[in-house]
Parts: sequence; structure tokens; C-alpha cells
Amino acid sequence: MKPSTFGVLADGREVLEYTLANSAGMSARIINYGATVTSLFVPDKDGNIEDVVLGYDSLQGYVNGSEYFGAVVGRYGNRIAKGQFLIDGQQYQLTINNGENHLHGGKIGFNKVLWEAEVLNDSGMPAIRFTYVSRDGEEGYPGTVTLKVTYALTHDNELRIDYEGVTDKPTILNPTQHSYFNLSGNFTETILGHSLMVEADKFTPVDEGLIPTGELASVENTPLDFRQPQTIGERIDDPFDQLVLGQGYDHNWVLRDYTGDGKIHKAAQLYDPSSGRLMTVFTDQPGIQFYSGNFLDGGAIGKNGIAYGHRTGLCLETQVFPDSPNKPDFPSAFLKPEQVYRQTTIYQFSTR
Ligand code: BGC
Repeated sequence: MKPSTFGVLADGREVLEYTLANSAGMSARIINYGATVTSLFVPDKDGNIEDVVLGYDSLQGYVNGSEYFGAVVGRYGNRIAKGQFLIDGQQYQLTINNGENHLHGGKIGFNKVLWEAEVLNDSGMPAIRFTYVSRDGEEGYPGTVTLKVTYALTHDNELRIDYEGVTDKPTILNPTQHSYFNLSGNFTETILGHSLMVEADKFTPVDEGLIPTGELASVENTPLDFRQPQTIGERIDDPFDQLVLGQGYDHNWVLRDYTGDGKIHKAAQLYDPSSGRLMTVFTDQPGIQFYSGNFLDGGAIGKNGIAYGHRTGLCLETQVFPDSPNKPDFPSAFLKPEQVYRQTTIYQFSTR
């Protein structure tokens, strides 16, 4: 697997793009800047192979953009209220970069740094491992964290992502993958016609800053009920308070089959009737953030010069719940030096 030059950073460092390709016609392009998936080529029901993730043609787009297209976000995926939390009675202050809150690791999160890349030749499938060492104090986080993210493309059309992280001081860690999917492969179309199922009976309601209130609310009789497949556009503009606050879907669902011991369970299923592409998400995480691309407004000019309009891509981010460090009843995002952080998430592609 020979990488190609994707671009050069202002400080002269080269950004490389790697291609993982399997025998079933699927391929993924990934750069070492942000450990970002730049393209994901997936067959449709007729065997046509198209790209199903939003992104930029050039490095400059990723350097300047604020959408987190395709990146690994961290240390903490999603929001922490006022960027504050306590460890052993000591308060830490993270960078504030979203209203009065901290979002996706801060101003220079894991999506804005260059990772070390190592092609893995012994896993029986195309795979690449990225490593980033986040220094003590970076964006306000305590402890030096070393995070390894391995992307593998299985021969069954799965993009598998394994995370492994360690720290030298107590800290918090909750990285996630921030690809924006549009399974039609046509990024001039919205995702409103896709159908979604989420394996959750509850979600975490949010306040006006999109910080969870702490409650686990039932999805029953709400537009957040995706226990059966539902067309995303059908209820997205309902005058339901949570949708008004999120300007659409921008919530964390509480995954029913989470066990807490690393067992991988089905989290969600996304289907595009026009192309027949079906994506199933598996994870060992307790939550999934479904973000319906509400803040896309045509301002980002993506691949092939296409302006990404409102809701032309959606994210399904596997994670510990937003603001967990301040919510004792939520699954914990704390990491101690004697522990190892692990996450496995699989995006599986098929057709129907
Ligand atoms: C968040 C959105 C945010 C977006 C940034 C999502 O994970 O939930 O609120 O605007 O990321 O692109």
C-alpha cells in the first residue's frame, strides 16, 4: 500500500493519503491529518461503486473547515458543559469553542493534528494504524495521552475502527469517528429520504447549549423513536422541543444492548432506498450521536466543487454520552494510568 501526497501543512510537513481496498469492490481513502477518512467507495445494488462520505478535495479544506468531515475527534467527542470537570477534587478548564461549551476536543482537537501512520501487513486485510501523542495540558486536558486508531477494511465490506488509548495521569478520553454519510453517493441530495433504525429505547435530552440535562428519556411517542426504521425527513421538522433545540436531530441515543465489557452490539442501521445501500453500525460503546447535518448551509465546498447544503450528510458517532464527566449516572469517560481505553466500531455495508 503506497501512500500518495495529499498536501503540505504550513510548517512543511507532508500529509499522506492511504488507500485500503478489499476484494469485494470497496475502498477507503484515509489521510494522516486528523486520521480522516476522505472517501469511502461502496457498491450500490447494481454494483456501481460511489463515494458515500462528505469531504474536501484538498488539504486546505480540512485545515480551514470546522465540520470535522471524516475525522477522528477527541480527546472528547461532543460537548462538555462550560469545558469544566473535576478529577479527584481538582477542576480542569478545557478550551471553550462552542458557545460557552467545549466541543470535539477544542480548537486544535485530534482532527487538526498530524498522526503517525503505520501500514499493517499481517492482519489478513488492508489495515492502517494511526498514533497520536496528546501532551499533558493540550486544550486543557490533564495527562499525556497516546491514542492508536486502527482502520481495517474487511473482505465483507466493513470499515472496522479499533481505538486503544493510555494516559500517564487521570484524564478523560472519548474519541469518535465523525464521517458524514450520504449513501446515495450524490452529495447534491439531502439524507432526508434515508431510513434509520437506532437500537435504543431512550435518549439523553439536551438544553439550549446541547448539553444533556442528565435525564434518560423514553423515545416512545416522540420523533426520536427509531426503534423501527423511519424515514429521517418525516418528523425532522416536527415542533417537538428537542428537535427545535437541536435544529433537527443532534442527540445521543442510549444503546439498549450495551454491556460495558467490550461486547460488540448492533447500534444503528441506515438505508438509502434509491441506491439500495445499507449501512449497519456495530459498537461496544454505550451511546450513539445521530447528527443530521443541520449546520451544513452550502458554505463548505466539498469534493468535485459541490457545495454541501443543509442535511446533505449525517453522522452516527459512537461514544460515551456527551458531558459524561459531569454526569455521575452516565457511563464513565474517566481513564486512569493503570487502565487502557478501548473502543471498536464497525460500519458494515451491504445492499438490499
Ligand atoms: C455535534 C453537532 C456539531 C457537529 C459539528 C456533531 O457531532 O453533535 O452539534 O455541530 O458535530 O460538525
